[in-house]
Amino acid sequence: MNALVIYDSNFGMTKLVAEEIVNNLDGNAKTLSVKNLRNSDLKDVDLVIWGSPINGWKPTVATMDAMNHLSKEDIHGVKFTTFDTRVKQFFHGDAKDQMAAKIRALGGEPITESKAFYVKGKEGPLFEGETENAGKWAKAIMSKV
Ligand SMILES: Cc1cc2nc3c(=O)[nH]c(=O)nc-3n(C[C@H](O)[C@H](O)[C@H](O)COP(=O)(O)O)c2cc1C
Repeated sequence: MNALVIYDSNFGMTKLVAEEIVNNLDGNAKTLSVKNLRNSDLKDVDLVIWGSPINGWKPTVATMDAMNHLSKEDIHGVKFTTFDTRVKQFFHGDAKDQMAAKIRALGGEPITESKAFYVKGKEGPLFEGETENAGKWAKAIMSKV
C-alpha cells in the first residue's frame, strides 16, 4: 500500500501529527508538505491523509489552492481521510470537513471519519495525549484499508 500524508503547518504542530500518523501506518507511507505537492505525487497512491491547521475558520490558503488544482483524474477512487489542528474555543471554524467535502467531490472514497487534534495556543504545543491519539487514529485507519 502506498500512503501519502499531506500537510500544511505554520508552527510545526500539524507536521508533528502528520509524522506520527506516518510512523503508525504500514506499507510505503510518507509525509509531504502541501507547498511541495505536485499532482503527479498522487500517482499510484492508494491512501491520502490530508491535514491542515484551521486558519481564520477554514483550511489554509495553500491547502485550498492545492485542492483547487486537483482534478478528478488525480483523486478518483483514492481512499482518503482528513484532519485538522485547532484551538479549544467555542467558535473555531473547521478545516477537516471542508477538505473532506472537496476530496469527495473529486471522487475520493472516505475511509473513516475526519479527525480534529487540539493545540494549546496558536503556536502549540499539542494537548497532552494528542500525539498518541494520532498514532491510534493511524492504526484504526490501517484496520480499514
Ligand atoms: C492566522 C491564524 C488564524 C487562526 N485561526 C484559527 C481558527 O479560526 N480556529 C482555530 O481553531 N484555530 C485557529 N488558529 C490556530 C491554529 O489552529 C494553530 O495555529 C494551529 O493548529 C497550529 O498548527 P501548525 O503549527 O501546524 O500551524 C489560527 C492561527 C493563525 C496563525
